[in-house]
Formats: sequence, C-alpha cells, structure tokens
Amino acid sequence: MLHSAHGKVILLGEHSVVYGHPALAGALADGVTVEATAGRGLLRIPQWELVIDPAAALEVPLARAYEEIRRRAGEPAVDLALTFNLPTGAGLGSSAAMAVAIGRALGLQGAALADAAMASETVIHGTPSGLDHTVSIAGGFGLFTRAGGLSALRAAPLRLVIGHTGKARDTKGRVARVAQLLGERSDEVRGRFAAIAELVARGADAVARGSYGELGQAMTENQRHLEALDVSCAEIERMCGIARDAGAFGAKLTGGGGGGCVIAVGNDAAVADAWRKAGFQTFAATVAA
Ligand code: PMV
Repeated sequence: MLHSAHGKVILLGEHSVVYGHPALAGALADGVTVEATAGRGLLRIPQWELVIDPAAALEVPLARAYEEIRRRAGEPAVDLALTFNLPTGAGLGSSAAMAVAIGRALGLQGAALADAAMASETVIHGTPSGLDHTVSIAGGFGLFTRAGGLSALRAAPLRLVIGHTGKARDTKGRVARVAQLLGERSDEVRGRFAAIAELVARGADAVARGSYGELGQAMTENQRHLEALDVSCAEIERMCGIARDAGAFGAKLTGGGGGGCVIAVGNDAAVADAWRKAGFQTFAATVAA
C-alpha cells in the first residue's frame, strides 16, 4: 500500500518564529511516498541507492531516525520503499515528510504519529521547532507559533514557484546571527519582529481571501526585513529581483536563508522561465491540504 506526507514552505515569518512570533506555513501537495510490502523491516531509498537494514544497527542519523519510528510502531514485519517527490536538504520539509510517511506506512496515527515524527526530526536536526512535521501531518495552510503549535487556516490551493539558489541553506548559522543582532541592536530587531508579525497577519488574511497580490506584497516586505536581519545572500536577492522583473506579485527566501530556496507568487510560468534562464533550478508547487 502507498502512503504519503506533505513537504512544507514557510510563506512568512521565519526567524521571528524562533522568538515566539507567528509564521504562516503551507503544506506542499508533493512530499514523500512510501510503499509498504510484507518483509523484515528494510527501508529502501532507490534515489540514494540506499538500503537500511535495522538488523545491521547502522549508526548514520537516517538509520537512527528510522529506528525511532519503527520502535514506536512495534517493529512491524514490513519492508518500505521511499520516494522523495521534492528536493531534499532544501528547507522544504523533506525529512519531516519522510518521517510522517514512514510512520503512516508502519500504522501510526494521531499523537503517536506526531511523537514518532518529532523523535525522527530530533535525531536529524537536533532541536526542531516541530513546525515541519506538524504541517506535514495537517496539510493546507496554518499559523504556527512555538507556544501554540499550528492553527489551521482555510484557503483555496495556492500555486507557487520555488527556485533553488544553488547554495546550501545555513539555518544554524543564520539563527545564530539573528541572536547576535538581537543582542547588539535589540530595539531595531524587536521592531522588525513586530513588523513581520503584522505581515504574517496580513498575509494570512490575504490567503484566506485569495488575494495573492496582497500576499506577494507582504512577502516582499518580509524579505526586506530578512535582508536587514542578515539572513539573505546575494543569490537570494538576485532571484527575488528576477522574479519581480518577471511579474511576480512578491518573492522571498523560505526557511533558514543564507542560501536554500526562494519562493514567488504570481506569474509562476514567467518567473520559472526567467530563473531557469539565469541558471537556477526551479519547480512549480502547490500549497494544498
Ligand atoms: O531552514 P528550515 O526550513 O529548517 O526553516 C528554519 C526556520 C527558522 O525559523 C529559521 C528556524 C526555526 O527553527 O523555526
């Protein structure tokens, strides 16, 4: 049987979310699929030419993460074949989608599924906020805060174009840099967090009304704050400029920044074309339940 789970994007509010402010997140229609067949617990990932055998006690993080999920599911006698339908290591929640799809394939649901996914994410990321697996399980749009978790937001599916800078994102380094700036220029940084929180509220309202021009405007304003918080980079700024010139309503980095992915809303075919011509990898995505 085939099981699946969503990837995610942060539409607005990364970094300020670390300090308790809300972020607007969306589940990507694509994510990870897992096919379960009778077996002895093998996890196959053909795209990586990788087979994890729980009997072999591999010490790589992926094997330990898988073991966390398998143990919680009571070690069922099934083999799994996993396929990534979105780029990995790009801030699009592929590791959380992997954990959720594996958990589902092993029969977990509800709180047990969320617990297993959090355990897997903790092995892979250290101290995850929990946003990725929560969005992966819930689907659709949601407002996320560290204290309150995810509250669902009803809205029509949203088409996005996602482009990769070609540089690895630097979530750890950029989170540390924002902490440093908060120490050095506290009033300014707090003011930016508050401004971003307002953009999140405006963006959530715009998404609910299907007003993508307003969402794009909020994204572009959010990007200005992210640049001032030192989490952007030359490639991200260049991609945002190309997207706006190609008719996007708005564009910004998504996730940790310093590299990684840029998202744009509006005129997605023209934006994708312009990014591709400039040498960036792009793909279309839909935020959906
Ligand atoms: O790079 P990602 O997709 O893991 O997103 C990081 C988001 C931050 O707000 C920068 C950090 C966090 O833990 O929320």
